[in-house]
Amino acid sequence: MNEAAHKPVAASAARNPGSDAIELLKSDHRAVEKLFDAFAKTRDDDLEAKGTLAQRTCEELTVHSIIEEEILYPAAHKALGKHDAIDVNEAFVEHYLVKTLIEKFDSLKPGDKGFDATFKVMSELVRHHIEEEESTLFPELRQRGIDLVALGDKLAARKAELMKKLEQAGSKLVGDRSLSFGRPA
Ligand SMILES: [Fe+2]
Ligand SMILES: [Fe+2]
Repeated sequence: MNEAAHKPVAASAARNPGSDAIELLKSDHRAVEKLFDAFAKTRDDDLEAKGTLAQRTCEELTVHSIIEEEILYPAAHKALGKHDAIDVNEAFVEHYLVKTLIEKFDSLKPGDKGFDATFKVMSELVRHHIEEEESTLFPELRQRGIDLVALGDKLAARKAELMKKLEQAGSKLVGDRSLSFGRPA
């Protein structure tokens, strides 16, 4: 059994004092990459670990995507010029694709045909998305001189709220269509 499978999801909700929006989002990225790596190292027959890791990954991705879509991307849209705002639109579309893969886990169980493949494709898509955010969107935001610490506070507060909701609802939040996650701009 992987150690990462048993770490409570809420553990990553905290933000280091003084850190900004980009540091918070990058630390979310590192957390989800750890889950991808842990899944890749899981023994083929360890279905329990695979199930737990997939659920935690979907939860982390859902919460992360919601805070980006509700807070970061609108702020980025406002701050960036017409040309750079294209990167925000692409990010929304990539979130939408990830969301469709997350929804597949509603009906897939570990050991089912397609479970591992869906997780792998999801991880590749997310790694690509992370790469683009960190190499393009985040540096663009830093250059604009917006208040990233204030933005970080908003992201952290919303994340804490969503984590609480997630804990109360079990994993039901992940498929909650009333949330903005996955809606292209
Ligand atoms: Fe994103
Ligand atoms: Fe992100």
